[in-house]
Amino acid sequence: MKTELQIAADKLVRDIFGVQPGESVVLTADYASNQNVLRAVSDSVREAGALVMTITVPTPGCVGKAADPELPVRPLSAALCACDVWIEFNHQWLLYSTPFEKASQENKKLRYMCLVDFDEELMIRTVGHVDTRQLQIFMRRVAQLTRDAKTMRVTTPAGCDVSFEIDPAHYVACDCGDATMPGIHMLTGQINVVPRFGSVQGTIVFDGSVTPPFGRSPAVPIRLTVKDGVIQSVEGGEEASSYEKYLRDFQDAGMLKMAHIAYGFNPGARLTGNIVEDERVWGATEWGIGYVSDIDAPPCGQDAVSHSDGICLKSSVWLDGIQIMDRGEIVLPELAELAPKR
Ligand SMILES: [Fe+2]
Repeated sequence: MKTELQIAADKLVRDIFGVQPGESVVLTADYASNQNVLRAVSDSVREAGALVMTITVPTPGCVGKAADPELPVRPLSAALCACDVWIEFNHQWLLYSTPFEKASQENKKLRYMCLVDFDEELMIRTVGHVDTRQLQIFMRRVAQLTRDAKTMRVTTPAGCDVSFEIDPAHYVACDCGDATMPGIHMLTGQINVVPRFGSVQGTIVFDGSVTPPFGRSPAVPIRLTVKDGVIQSVEGGEEASSYEKYLRDFQDAGMLKMAHIAYGFNPGARLTGNIVEDERVWGATEWGIGYVSDIDAPPCGQDAVSHSDGICLKSSVWLDGIQIMDRGEIVLPELAELAPKR
């Protein structure tokens, strides 16, 4: 009998990555990574007939390029440039570090997924228990309807009422549990939309996690008033004041600009304070503020020194005036038929 963790690991390796016999798979970790998850995924790779190597580094003090001085950049980059699959289980993520940048630019066959801070329970509920095939059908249809729309409006019971234009030149990313093609993949259950810059109008209320700086939900929801894509005011309780200070202290106009909105569609995700899970809670939408890459929004992206994300729970969504979601539930009949059972 396989454990639930092993079944989840098998699903990740076989269904999501489609690992083939003879492929080379690198798992990266640091001293804070969950050993049981690493061992289970390693065993699944071997069972798939592929070759696996786990690289563990002492946990750096920071993430991304800021972690470079604490990393063995050259040997780590060499391994990541030579493998077929890289699954990142680090606590202090390597995403956007120099080894990541080298691997993503030079290793054209690389399939990467960022699964930071994954423990047994998170693997089981967001990978093992998810009907990935059905979810892919559903999410691809939502992504298509969104790409085809010209406008989107989102409201929530907490007071969001925000509208914007969809820019056909911007990339609508659909992370639906398919990492069989080369590229940078994220955990199953998110569709990301970068609105036409300057078109976001209305009120956005964060009643789920706001990260950075808080890493949890605010005690009193944080209300942003947005005009032409730029935050005009931040209201709520004490955390609203400290959030406004946090954004303004960057002294960067880009840190007051709305960046992206994402639908959360992982049936197993719960609000836990782990942003990777929180932003995939079913029926939530997540707004990013600040930096947008030129891949997501060609040709220039949106420049800013940093990026912050906040969650709006139980979202209602309209595409070109047609309602597809009501307080987190799918109401458009053609989508409701495709949505996986929860
Ligand atoms: Fe974001």
